[in-house]
Amino acid sequence: MDELLIQGGRRLKGAITISGAKNAALPAMAASILIPGKTRLSNIPDVRDVRVMCQVLEQLGCTWDRDGDLLEIDASSISSVEAPYDLVRTMRASVLMLGPLLARFGKARVSMPGGCAIGTRPIDIHLKALNKLGADISLDHGMMELSSNGLSAQEIYLDFPTVTGTENIMMAAMGAPGETTIYNAAREPEIIDLALLLTTAGASISGAGTDTVHIQPGMLKEFVTHRVIPDRIEAGTFAIAAAITGGEIRLKNIVPEHLTAVMAKLGQVGVDVTIEPGEIIVKAGEPLRPVNIQTAVYPGYPTDLQAQFMALMCLAEGESVITENIFENRFMHVPELNRMGADIAVRGRTAVIKGIRKFRGAEVMATDLRASASLVLAALAADNETRLLRVYHLDRGYERLEGKLQGVGAQIERLTGGGP
Ligand code: UD1
Repeated sequence: MDELLIQGGRRLKGAITISGAKNAALPAMAASILIPGKTRLSNIPDVRDVRVMCQVLEQLGCTWDRDGDLLEIDASSISSVEAPYDLVRTMRASVLMLGPLLARFGKARVSMPGGCAIGTRPIDIHLKALNKLGADISLDHGMMELSSNGLSAQEIYLDFPTVTGTENIMMAAMGAPGETTIYNAAREPEIIDLALLLTTAGASISGAGTDTVHIQPGMLKEFVTHRVIPDRIEAGTFAIAAAITGGEIRLKNIVPEHLTAVMAKLGQVGVDVTIEPGEIIVKAGEPLRPVNIQTAVYPGYPTDLQAQFMALMCLAEGESVITENIFENRFMHVPELNRMGADIAVRGRTAVIKGIRKFRGAEVMATDLRASASLVLAALAADNETRLLRVYHLDRGYERLEGKLQGVGAQIERLTGGGP
């Protein structure tokens, strides 16, 4: 398994071009199942989750072709509606297959995703809504079997504004004649992005980005092109990298409005943030001031940047409190940060972080995607070397992480095939 060796203590300086959003690419790829022809997607990041999603599509009988950030999927000859366990277990986003398969073929067989490192993450809200649209649902040997003799448009209220749940329902609604309305829908930018793709394909959708989304399926085209939005989580991670190393980084190819909550918090910390069209310049300030954070649904502070911000707060002068409101078990990075000298105490969903002067490099273990990113950030600020094991977690969602960091002056290198 690959490892990362990071020699901390360098001030990062320069520009980083942000890749396309993993969390927009995956639903866009799932949506290609709806198109009885080709979907050409651009700004698709080369990350492991995207590669797994390509494999899932292949299992269904799709063909695909990749050239740089372009991904063309041909779903004209799908021959199977089954996403098996060996692929689904490595990527929860496979549940996004349910909606489009149901809409186009009236059936889907997708392995139950099971638990994961950041909590139980049920999909009950997805299933309840798909059932309301007209799907019969049963569980057989760990596989969810959905079938329908015809979906019908419905008014659907979500108990929680789940992101992939909203996406799944929007795609299922493409097979339900009439107008489906989702109340208490997720408002994340990735929802607007999917709505744009579906609209380009021929649907009528209004309200995406608000808590009420109306979807009317249309006659779908046989060739659809779509460019996915930039990755706001990758951008936020590098913004924090600038702040934690006392550096200055220009983030290119982003939508600054997607990062409003994160930049507001960085501002409170004392970081200097300059917004330009499509770019943000982040310049560290000293000393770092402690702040409190509550993760929330968009436009609140994103849970996907909680671990990274915690690393930054370790170096603030004073005590910060971070409350994780979205996932019940998302503090896996805490013991590892503490091994690097942090002083963090967790009680339930709250972490109390007491500022320390410096991180000490150590051998640490990545546990999930964003937790791993926080360890990289701590390592960049440490005064000696850190060895990060289980880098495959990072590879799920960060494109060329070490290459991008090297480009702004970080001393980071990948050892391939090492360690347990
Ligand atoms: C998506 C993102 C993920 C991000 C998360 C929160 C993708 C592929 N993943 O995940 O990176 O961390 O949004 O912004 O886009 N819940 C239920 N029942 C359900 C669905 C969700 O109880 O049927 C709960 C979950 O357990 C969790 C909360 O709702 O506590 C949020 O989950 P959700 O918004 O669905 O997150 P994901 O879509 O899985």
